[in-house]
Amino acid sequence: MVNISIAIESIASDGAICQIDSIMKLNDTSSVLAFLKSRKSASAKAMAAPGPSKSQIDDIIEIAVRVPDHGKLAPWRFILIEGEGRARIGQGFADVWAKNNPSHRADILDFQRGLFMRAPVILVVVSTAAVHGKIPVWEQQLSSAAVCYNAVLATTALGFDAQWQSDWVAYDDGAKAVMGVHAHEKVSGIIYVGTSSVPLEDRPRPDISTLLTRINS
Ligand SMILES: Cc1cc2nc3c(=O)[nH]c(=O)nc-3n(C[C@H](O)[C@H](O)[C@H](O)COP(=O)(O)O)c2cc1C
Repeated sequence: MVNISIAIESIASDGAICQIDSIMKLNDTSSVLAFLKSRKSASAKAMAAPGPSKSQIDDIIEIAVRVPDHGKLAPWRFILIEGEGRARIGQGFADVWAKNNPSHRADILDFQRGLFMRAPVILVVVSTAAVHGKIPVWEQQLSSAAVCYNAVLATTALGFDAQWQSDWVAYDDGAKAVMGVHAHEKVSGIIYVGTSSVPLEDRPRPDISTLLTRINS
């Protein structure tokens, strides 16, 4: 958790606009609303140990599946990669990369090999959406995105850090097979879970006035 200083404008009683400093704590778990308003991902590039325990991972998954799910189809599943599994999967990624890119550079191959070594725990969220008589595939996929976000929130609420990624391995059939994802399934997210080795920094957020259309008559 990190404190950042932000300047906000306030209108004084005489109408003058003045600047006041406010301290905002990222991933502030003091209340549900404070947490949602201050939520911040970490970067997989700077993710380190510790990661969650087995029972904490169970909690993360239990919370992750508590999402809206039209038709109660549970159209998602998980693959958890940790320990030596990360290196084995990474070697598989490097092999696929080398096959796809015959003139590959050694340093890029090393990067692919180390992709999953960047965090102690990797949670792959797989969309198993399939054509259904009533529920559109799109809605099933949206539910899977909600699973990813809930997993990020749960991880962060437990005091760890997370980043939802995709990367080429989410889209390449060979890399998907390395992770045990079938060709007809989609990778909704690869959640890097651990503890950031650097302080988190916020980023500018969208101006909601440019996003919101109000219809009230
Ligand atoms: C579907 C999806 C895929 C993403 N893939 C990546 C990715 O491959 N690499 C990356 O750096 N960020 C990726 N992001 C963005 C991060 O999850 C995150 O939004 C970013 O690090 C900024 O963090 P913040 O939203 O907490 O400010 C992805 C986000 C989504 C929703």
